[in-house]
Amino acid sequence: MNISTQKLLEQLADGQYHSGESLGELLGISRAAIWKQLQALQTLGVNVQSVKGRGYCVEGGLDLLHRAEIEKGFNELIGDADSKLTKLIVENELDSTSQYLIKMSAQGEAIHGWVCFAEKQSAGRGRRGRVWQSPFASNLYFSIGWRIHSGVAAVEGLSLAVGVCLCEALEHFGFVDLQLKWPNDLLYKNKKLGGILLEISGDAAGECDLVLGVGLNVSMSEKAAEEIDQPWIDLFSIANEQARVLPSRDQLAAHLLHALFSMLRNFEAQGFAQWRDPWQKRNAHAGKEITLHMGAKAQAKRGMMLGVNNSGALLLNTEQGVEAFIGGEISLRSLD
Ligand code: BTN
Repeated sequence: MNISTQKLLEQLADGQYHSGESLGELLGISRAAIWKQLQALQTLGVNVQSVKGRGYCVEGGLDLLHRAEIEKGFNELIGDADSKLTKLIVENELDSTSQYLIKMSAQGEAIHGWVCFAEKQSAGRGRRGRVWQSPFASNLYFSIGWRIHSGVAAVEGLSLAVGVCLCEALEHFGFVDLQLKWPNDLLYKNKKLGGILLEISGDAAGECDLVLGVGLNVSMSEKAAEEIDQPWIDLFSIANEQARVLPSRDQLAAHLLHALFSMLRNFEAQGFAQWRDPWQKRNAHAGKEITLHMGAKAQAKRGMMLGVNNSGALLLNTEQGVEAFIGGEISLRSLD
């Protein structure tokens, strides 16, 4: 995105009408050039209204991400010993923030402590090959790069700990009743609020790069959500329901990063055990009869969800007794 388009975006973010003339003057470009830039914004998915005699406006405004604000918020929260945010990238559009960090790692960059946000992802990916809907300036899509020294086994349960961190960061703003679905979906009243994707590159038994991707629905339009194939919710609706102020996406980003960095710096040494209770406290399926779907052949196992063990494995009370599972997807038995 060129500088004029970015400036135009920032002007229109206030939700007010701006005449073509005033925008042209401000940006030092012709009205025809403004029109071209507006087309570029429409392509990103920004809905610019044009009213004769009044000018251009983005109805409702935009809550844009600001790199400097996120960094400032993060630095205010984090102690010196924690500060490992080595690079903060905020892009308007990427295919996928996780893919970006994986690419950087493959190119030989040391991505430890890198954080990458995008206002929009053109190929956002979810677990199990799903697409993660990522409309412009609506939600949060970000990835963190982290170096693991003693192989993937050392980060067993990490994705569950990430879920706890997301809940704790949101609870800081007063949100309540957030729940976790094993292994790592963030739910509210059984609707999906956020998702976590962990990807690892390098030597799975030794030094490797972890890319931790987080998608959090903040303010999703019905239109953008048309393609989502499961019940979903956004923080905007929860804020309305719980009479809370919706924090800015910059504020949310800073608090989420703070929670995640504080956890990540100790996780490899300390493991999942200390996160087990906080996870179980938020377990959406505790004591429920569930079906665990595993593998491509849709193998399924039924039983009562007991919780998780010290490695984050799901404990299921089946006809064969208590069994531990490290992979699969849960559904409620009554919904099968
Ligand atoms: C899930 O399916 O629940 C996981 C969703 C993870 C989505 C996030 S958005 C930021 C990062 N970049 C991606 O392409 N995916 C993750």
